[in-house]
Amino acid sequence: MPDANDVKPSRLAPPPVTRRSFLSLSALVSFLAAMGTALAGVLRLPKPTVEPGPVRRYKVGHPEQFPLGAETLFAEENFVVRRDAAGIYAIATTCTHLGCAVARTSEGFACPCHGSKFADNGRVLAGPAPRPLPWLEISRAADGQLVVYVDREVPPGTHFPV
Ligand code: FES
Repeated sequence: MPDANDVKPSRLAPPPVTRRSFLSLSALVSFLAAMGTALAGVLRLPKPTVEPGPVRRYKVGHPEQFPLGAETLFAEENFVVRRDAAGIYAIATTCTHLGCAVARTSEGFACPCHGSKFADNGRVLAGPAPRPLPWLEISRAADGQLVVYVDREVPPGTHFPV
């Protein structure tokens, strides 16, 4: 009776997989997967991952609606519009720390989230806010109303002349 070790492999059976050939094949598959992932990343580079959204702008009314020394809060849109001798200006009321809406106080603005305080002109009085409240661009629409651009910052002190 023949021993099991004496059985000759069939000519139709696949050759046995050695450890060396298995590791070589694994390394090749891993290399090809890494190259494919890298190539996919390179091909995605020309396409921006963040598409710019529409410009957020709000008509706030005619200049005559903002008397000298007055302040109008646009709470939903998160800015205030004021008028002084130099003109009209808008300041955002979104905290520059993590984006909470700041509240009006007697000395300026205060953030209810982490306690930042801002002066009347948006300057930081107490952190953790890293920078002042932004002043916002104002223009005039064709119908004569003022338009505040919430996403366009202007240097502090920039007034819209009226
Ligand atoms: S969000 Fe205003 S202080 Fe943190």
